[in-house]
Amino acid sequence: MLNTFNRLLGNDAGIFRRYLGMTLVYGLLCGLSIVSVLPVLASLLANDLPAASRWLIPLVLGVVLCWALRRRVERAGIRVGVAVLQQGRHRLGDHVAQLPVGWFDAHNTARLSHVTAEGMMALAQLPAHVFTPLITGLVTPLVVVAALFALDLRMGLIALLALPLLLAVLVLTARLGQRADDRYHASTAQASQRMVEFAQAQSVLRAFNGEDGGSHFLEQAITDQQQAARRLIHVSAMSVVVNTWAVQAVFATLLGAALLWLGHLVGQPLAPAALVPLVLTLLLLSRFVDPLLEVASYSEVLRGARSQLTTVRELFAVQPMPQAQAPQEPADGSVELHEVSFRYAENQPETLRKICLRVEPGSMTALVGASGSGKTTLMRLIARFFDVSQGSVRVGGVDVRQIGAGRLAAQISQIFQDAYLFQGSIADNIRVGKPDASEAEVLAAAREAGVMEMLERLPEGLDTQVGEGGTRLSGGERQRISIARALIKDAPILLVDEATAALDAENQVAISEALARLRGKRTVIVIAHQLSTVAMADQVVVLDQGQISQQGSPARLAQAPGLYAHFLAQRRAAKGWRIAAQSVSEDSV
Ligand SMILES: Nc1ncnc2c1ncn2[C@@H]1O[C@H](COP(=O)(O)OP(=O)(O)OP(=O)(O)O)[C@@H](O)[C@H]1O
Ligand SMILES: [Mg+2]
Repeated sequence: MLNTFNRLLGNDAGIFRRYLGMTLVYGLLCGLSIVSVLPVLASLLANDLPAASRWLIPLVLGVVLCWALRRRVERAGIRVGVAVLQQGRHRLGDHVAQLPVGWFDAHNTARLSHVTAEGMMALAQLPAHVFTPLITGLVTPLVVVAALFALDLRMGLIALLALPLLLAVLVLTARLGQRADDRYHASTAQASQRMVEFAQAQSVLRAFNGEDGGSHFLEQAITDQQQAARRLIHVSAMSVVVNTWAVQAVFATLLGAALLWLGHLVGQPLAPAALVPLVLTLLLLSRFVDPLLEVASYSEVLRGARSQLTTVRELFAVQPMPQAQAPQEPADGSVELHEVSFRYAENQPETLRKICLRVEPGSMTALVGASGSGKTTLMRLIARFFDVSQGSVRVGGVDVRQIGAGRLAAQISQIFQDAYLFQGSIADNIRVGKPDASEAEVLAAAREAGVMEMLERLPEGLDTQVGEGGTRLSGGERQRISIARALIKDAPILLVDEATAALDAENQVAISEALARLRGKRTVIVIAHQLSTVAMADQVVVLDQGQISQQGSPARLAQAPGLYAHFLAQRRAAKGWRIAAQSVSEDSV
């Protein structure tokens, strides 16, 4: 826990250490002020007023010091909280920025956003509201136990033994609660994922599920969440009761021991020497149990925040991509895969097996293959979204692991299958590829990517707002803008994951033309779905279940029997079907 806090605070970790030290001193001082009541009382009982007033001085000093320190501890706790809020998100952000791009799947993204939004707030409140009472609640009784030892060995021993016992009860109830808590958090994350899915996929859900809009996945997730919440409330309430009982049982045992002691004294003349320690012991016992009760009640809050801390710890534990110690410069725009094998996780089968491939600078390679054959995975490895399991990926003759992250990113432009646009204008979205691009550069890229033709329909031209995620534009239009964005970046290598959705003829032509214009200028590796794209390529690589099954020029492969011939036949049939509907018959490949 302390490590996670230190990690979150980074350079500000010193504030946290100072706060902890101050709280410990405060707890000790509170214990000592309680104990310093004893000599005052003892002197009073012995009728020694001068001694009582002498002892009163450290007591008053202790109380005043305690009071002053309390305020400083509170302020230090708040300072730590503020630092967690200010630094924590940055630290976590810096860390996840170094993680493999492939790490950002729906589950991890949901966890990250949950912990940065709610988690940081819960953690920021911990020092002032929970750590202070918990630490003082544990330190103060220790001082009281030491005093009890001085007064009566047996009482001291009982009180000392009670502390680990109490701690064991607290740990046990915390474990029980932790399980309920984990289930609750898992079901909450599931329910929010389902909620987003439900909202985003309304059109699909309604088309397939009619009136209720396919809400049963969401309903199930909410029912699970409610059940988990009920269980959590039940376990939390039970934990508080059990913890309080445990503290009170210890108190009862100590009182019982005091009673036995008293019983032992019955019948004897009650000399002040015997009476004084007894009174003092009873007084100490009542002071011993108060802070412990407080600990019992705060342990629940602490457990609640622990799951957030665990998430933060787990996020920090994800290893960033190893960075090259002495980064090398890629020499040209070539791409080479040498005996590359890759699996997404240890327990999963290999997605790619022993892939060997060389793409010359300025050439165009088309990847084709059935869905799930590993085309996108291969592209991800070139851009180092993940590291290969075996073999090596070389860009410009250098292993991608030996190229600095920024340098590799500058070497490669990418056009993804689902072009994501940011809220803003078309020009803003093109500029993502080169933030300082001039108006002329934006226009040139727009022209090259076939965005200009599309602009004629839009009265505001390049300043047209695209809506969140580009929802105000069609899929083909989005893809054209993403091509312009990739072109303006002017990187020697372009990776294209062509949209699978059948684009309308105009968009398809625009995209093909944009790719054709790049021939010879950039190294293009394209996951091709359109016949026109494949026909343009210098080489075609056919993937089948993670292996290269055919490789060669489109013309040569078209002659050979195999998967490529099958792919061609399929595409021609699809194209023929579409064109037949328009009463035209033409085939270019
Ligand atoms: N993030 C991931 N984690 C685990 N497995 C994955 C992941 N992404 C893809 N896979 C698996 O790897 C295999 C290859 O997927 P990939 O996306 O590379 O195929 P593809 O050829 O691009 O398919 P498509 O044409 O449908 O896009 C599939 O079996 C897929 O389930
Ligand atoms: Mg794919």
